[in-house]
Amino acid sequence: MRITQKTLQKMRDTGEKISALTCYDASFASLLENSGVDILLVGDSLGNVLQGEKTTLSVTLDDMLYHTGCVARGSRKAFIMADMPFGTSQVSPENTFENAAELISAGASMVKIEGGRVMAETIKFLSLRGIPVCAHIGLMPQSVHMLGGYKVQGKSTNQANQLMEDAIILEEAGAGMLLMEAIPAILAKKITKKLVIPTIGIGAGVDCDAQVLVLYDILGIYSGTKSKSKFIKNFMDGAGSINEAVENYVKEVKSKKFPKSEHGF
Ligand code: KIV
Repeated sequence: MRITQKTLQKMRDTGEKISALTCYDASFASLLENSGVDILLVGDSLGNVLQGEKTTLSVTLDDMLYHTGCVARGSRKAFIMADMPFGTSQVSPENTFENAAELISAGASMVKIEGGRVMAETIKFLSLRGIPVCAHIGLMPQSVHMLGGYKVQGKSTNQANQLMEDAIILEEAGAGMLLMEAIPAILAKKITKKLVIPTIGIGAGVDCDAQVLVLYDILGIYSGTKSKSKFIKNFMDGAGSINEAVENYVKEVKSKKFPKSEHGF
């Protein structure tokens, strides 16, 4: 049976940690879910790891539809989340709905949208019309030019308060999950405690309900242009196969061995 948003909410409510990895094709979809991964995120990080781009900004809706379809065809159990690429969620709620509907038709069960409170109206519009949304706050790679690089967010008290407020506003707007990227672990813990929906962390400490990493990073095969983030761990170290590396990742997430404080901020 496929994992649903309800399953993930129940895991959060009972304190079971949720494992997630990015995934872009059918073969890995099958391998990852058979190794115990709960969520397959068709991330726009495919712009970096598959297409060799410096940023995710050139990824198109067609790219995302193609890879979401590939993942969906290879998967039977996992929850599939797909990123809305740059330019497809910013114009209007109506336009975002049309783009998100295509990703859902391609096989996603939820779309992920980068942005804080500014996206609340859009998230409300989508969720009231049957499209579950994961909101993505903190380091938002699609805003790299506004942020001035891939930098840790929420370090000052003011920024931390803004992020906490964003999280509450987005949950109230109907977000079904909240992803937090590269923010202090203590802040992610506070936000996770405050919210009812599951939180997903990447560089956000061990107290998030779920952890996600880019697949190629845990397999140690990404040597792209983005400098190696502190929150990456190569699970191929000491593993005899890709399956074993992924199983070890899942085990460490579920038992709260990963991430350690050295992987956070
Ligand atoms: O595209 C992606 O890989 C992401 C990560 C932050 C998980 O959104």
